[in-house]
Amino acid sequence: VNPTIELLLSHRSIRKFEDRVVPDEVLSTLVQCGQAAATSSNVQGVSVIHVTKPDVRQAMASLAGGQTYVETAGAFVVYCADLRRSMNACESQGGEFVPGMMEDFLISSIDVGIAAQNTVIAAESLGLGICYIGGLRNNPSEVSKLLKLPQQVYPVFGLCLGYPTQDPEVKPRLPIDAVLMKDEYNESGQVELRDQYDETVREYYRTRTGGKKSSCWSEEMKILVGKESRPHMKRFLADQGFATK
Ligand SMILES: Cc1cc2nc3c(=O)[nH]c(=O)nc-3n(C[C@H](O)[C@H](O)[C@H](O)COP(=O)(O)O)c2cc1C
Repeated sequence: VNPTIELLLSHRSIRKFEDRVVPDEVLSTLVQCGQAAATSSNVQGVSVIHVTKPDVRQAMASLAGGQTYVETAGAFVVYCADLRRSMNACESQGGEFVPGMMEDFLISSIDVGIAAQNTVIAAESLGLGICYIGGLRNNPSEVSKLLKLPQQVYPVFGLCLGYPTQDPEVKPRLPIDAVLMKDEYNESGQVELRDQYDETVREYYRTRTGGKKSSCWSEEMKILVGKESRPHMKRFLADQGFATK
């Protein structure tokens, strides 16, 4: 264990922030840390939109399902998967861009995840707290309109950054033996490990909420994957020029 590993293992999402803006220079450095991450074939399929206008922040908070910390964080940025620059570069060389490839959708979305997480780690190393906001995909068309996103660009998630005014416990993860497999996919022991984890999560929620919440991971998965999740995304992505073939 070293300070980097300690930092990684102490991550927890922060949803309460001081009323203090993250300075532009700090944000710029953090986004550069994201740019420094590995990127599929050097595509760098990421654009980051720093939302500074209070009325747009308010609209984003509401579009994300009433997540007030989108408004109150020291900075709010939207991570976009962006194939538009690559398309323009291709065409500047006399090439013909092929839109809609599922593989390019994956490449740009993966690039976004990797870049954002580098930014997150850099932010946490400075004592900032963060919360990803996938809730923007509740209303991706409205978000895209507000941000004037052109074809070949789509909002993957938002990210709140700021100076924490809360210090929540680290949320327990699945046992490592459920996740790390040797040589081949291995389902033996998964049920026992899941049961064990369900109890850990139940206890975590009970402690954290003074007994008000006591659900477990399996119950959460029942709600999450036991229904159609944001079914509008397929159509929305196709409309932005992504993932049609
Ligand atoms: C892509 C992504 C989207 C997320 N969207 C939201 C969100 O909209 N609102 C929220 O409060 N938390 C959101 N989260 C935070 C997760 O709920 C959180 O990371 C998870 O419960 C684990 O908790 P921890 O980050 O405190 O360890 C998101 C996380 C990720 C990675």
